[in-house]
Amino acid sequence: MSSITLHTLMARKQAGEKFAVLTAYDACFSHLISTAGVEVMLVGDSLGMVLQGNDSTLPVTIEEMVYHTAAVKAGNQGSMIMSDLPFMSYGTPEQAMDSAAVLMQAGAHIVKLEGAAWLDDTITLLAERGVPVCAHLGLTPQAVNVLGGYKVQGRDNSAAKKMIEDAVRLEQAGAAMLLLECIPSLLAGEITKAVDIPVIGIGAGADTDAQVLVMHDMLGITPGRSPRFVKNYMADSDDIASAFKAYAEEVKAGTFPGPEHGF
Ligand code: KIV
Ligand code: NA
Repeated sequence: MSSITLHTLMARKQAGEKFAVLTAYDACFSHLISTAGVEVMLVGDSLGMVLQGNDSTLPVTIEEMVYHTAAVKAGNQGSMIMSDLPFMSYGTPEQAMDSAAVLMQAGAHIVKLEGAAWLDDTITLLAERGVPVCAHLGLTPQAVNVLGGYKVQGRDNSAAKKMIEDAVRLEQAGAAMLLLECIPSLLAGEITKAVDIPVIGIGAGADTDAQVLVMHDMLGITPGRSPRFVKNYMADSDDIASAFKAYAEEVKAGTFPGPEHGF
């Protein structure tokens, strides 16, 4: 696969072609995932849960994100690498610049941060300085203690209306992509239509421009009951590489997620 850029993904959106995103945290999986036709690898702060065994993403540090981003870069075969800015590493615009700098120097092509209105200036400043930003809306796990748990967001009309406004404003501020987590499928479809930038969904239905899953979840190795939006791709695959390929193909064909995976 030739190298995926923001330009590639914008063109996919305009052509109505979906793309696949999967988390990756190390070089071997990065190699397998990027050769499986997955356009974007997310070095997610979910690593705090699936690699470190914490009960939230809050303990993850910028140094840890840099370490895993460098490992993913080492194995990458042409996918775009998106890295999460971890909890409180972008509390002020100045902090965000410093944190984004070390992630980009480690190999990220774009950084992701969680939140809405308070991030407008930060997103503008980063974009002006050459750092593309993906804004994460809906269920934002770094705010779990404010949200009161991992719950579907944007269910009532006023919250839904606000989320559409947030999405449009973040695009105007300079966001290059959006990620929507655990929101009603209908709302995710409306937001995807309301903005020109590519929209990635998880637990957000079939109408976003792209899908993301946590690798451990789709391989069926995360302990406990898996969330409704997860599909276990090892169930019908002989090996891990085939599971990654099946996921990429189903996302692009629009057969994953099905209605049963949405809210
Ligand atoms: O950290 C992560 O893996 C994420 C995805 C769940 C969207 O942010
Ligand atoms: Na994350």
